[in-house]
Amino acid sequence: MSMSIEDCQVARDGFPRPFPDTPANVLDQFRLTGRVAAVTGAAEGIGGAVADAYAEAGADVALLYNTNPAAIERAEALTKQHGIRAAAYKVDVSDAEAVRETIAKVAKDFGKIDIFVANAGMAISKPILDTSLDEYRKQLSVNVDGVVFCAKYVGEIFKAQGSGNLIITSSISAHIVNVPVDQPVYNGTKAFVTHFGKSLAREWREFARVNVVSPGFFDTKMGAGPDVLSEAYRLSVLGRQGHVKEIKGLFLYLASDASTYTTGSDMLVDGGYVLT
Ligand code: NAI
Repeated sequence: MSMSIEDCQVARDGFPRPFPDTPANVLDQFRLTGRVAAVTGAAEGIGGAVADAYAEAGADVALLYNTNPAAIERAEALTKQHGIRAAAYKVDVSDAEAVRETIAKVAKDFGKIDIFVANAGMAISKPILDTSLDEYRKQLSVNVDGVVFCAKYVGEIFKAQGSGNLIITSSISAHIVNVPVDQPVYNGTKAFVTHFGKSLAREWREFARVNVVSPGFFDTKMGAGPDVLSEAYRLSVLGRQGHVKEIKGLFLYLASDASTYTTGSDMLVDGGYVLT
């Protein structure tokens, strides 16, 4: 039954909560000095750009990668260029025990984890009638299980620390049905992680913020393939794919004190793709 106006006016203990003790200067809000960030899929593409962004903003960075050892060189380069601490960790996000062990190792090596970006993903872009059950399960294991495992194990650390910040890379595919290639399984995995992230924002409200980034087409290995490129240019209002440097600012905003009142958000960065 709905509450009356009088019912709603009863003061609740502990409310309003205090404003955060964060800088008023906006550029200071964006600094990550002293923070520890971990990023999955950090060898290249969007995750690589995010790892760069966090190091450029002063954070120490753990670069989690699966098969591409470019993450090791990237970590070395970030250390040299920015005077921060960076290290690469090999982990398959679809392996729960490996995820648990790796996150525990990162926390031990760096002393804490302030920011975790669950970014790793993959796609087998096919209609369901052409998708084998193995192909279906593979996409679920990386895009859904991988995000759930990372969230579950880093969430335990956030809860113990009393603070944390989880950012999930979803997709415009959680908002729209992609054309012209049907890919219902990939789209479904991204819809799952978007709603999962919003749900965690409530579950973890006492100790961590959780937000979702939904990119449109970005020029990476997972960007628009030859079959969809022309249509991607047509449907993007800006007439092109994004460059990964154009997503760094959003991930920095969500990781930083500039976004302390932002949780449970799902932010599009898509060149206007979903407008059409
Ligand atoms: P990418 O292929 O450069 O990066 C994906 C990363 O995930 C790779 O480094 C890959 O090694 C890693 N990965 C895949 N399976 C893994 C596993 N089992 N364990 C650990 N890591 C694994 O592509 P991109 O574009 O940087 O993708 C990053 C995220 O952005 C993905 O979640 C993708 O779904 C999402 N996305 C990308 C878009 C695009 O147009 N590039 C559009 C919308 C979302």
